[in-house]
Amino acid sequence: MEIEIRPLRPDDDRSSFSSGDVELDRFFRNYAGQNQFRLHVGVTYVASTAGLVVGYVTIAPGSMVIDRLPRRERQRLPAYPLPILRLARLAVSTTHQGQGIGSRLVRFALEMAREMARRFGCVGVVVDALPEALRFYARLGFFELVVEAGALPSRPAPRPMFLPIGSIPGTDRASSQ
Ligand SMILES: CC(C)(COP(=O)(O)OP(=O)(O)OC[C@H]1O[C@@H](n2cnc3c(N)ncnc32)[C@H](O)[C@@H]1OP(=O)(O)O)[C@@H](O)C(=O)NCCC(=O)NCCS
Repeated sequence: MEIEIRPLRPDDDRSSFSSGDVELDRFFRNYAGQNQFRLHVGVTYVASTAGLVVGYVTIAPGSMVIDRLPRRERQRLPAYPLPILRLARLAVSTTHQGQGIGSRLVRFALEMAREMARRFGCVGVVVDALPEALRFYARLGFFELVVEAGALPSRPAPRPMFLPIGSIPGTDRASSQ
């Protein structure tokens, strides 16, 4: 199966995309387009095969305060807000899950983070992971960020996870010295 990863286009058919997660499907159908083409608050990249969209990842630049990093990751970082790339949404259609497409979309976003680091600065990638996807991201090297005391809701909610830029294969650690 030949998979192409490319920016969402206005004429992509998003109406039938179904990942099994109602919120992620609604976002893709109703908001991904306007967010990208009119509001410019994020860019969605789709995995497409034979003209069919089978997955998407939405990314946007953001910032993070150093206090959210575990102590071992804080070394030498300044105390002002740190530039990050946010992996805002990720979903693969139910018919194509378990075939490596989600991992490819994440790796594609990691490449974007490396590009951002080279051009504008980026200390890593942040994702608010759904509880059922925590292990998926952990396998890709993400770890959980520090959550402020009292900030954890009682019901299962997305958990912020982080992958430092230096952990992305191919990133030149020496260049950040
Ligand atoms: C989570 C999701 C994006 C993963 O995409 P995918 O294409 O199915 O995942 P991949 O095929 O790349 O999986 C890579 C590995 O992670 C594992 N994996 C996939 N989903 C997993 C999950 N939810 N929990 C634990 N492991 C998972 C796979 O078994 C695979 O392992 P293997 O390499 O040993 O076979 C996809 O299942 C999905 O869209 N789920 C519904 C929406 C969702 O949860 N999105 C994440 C929002 S934070």
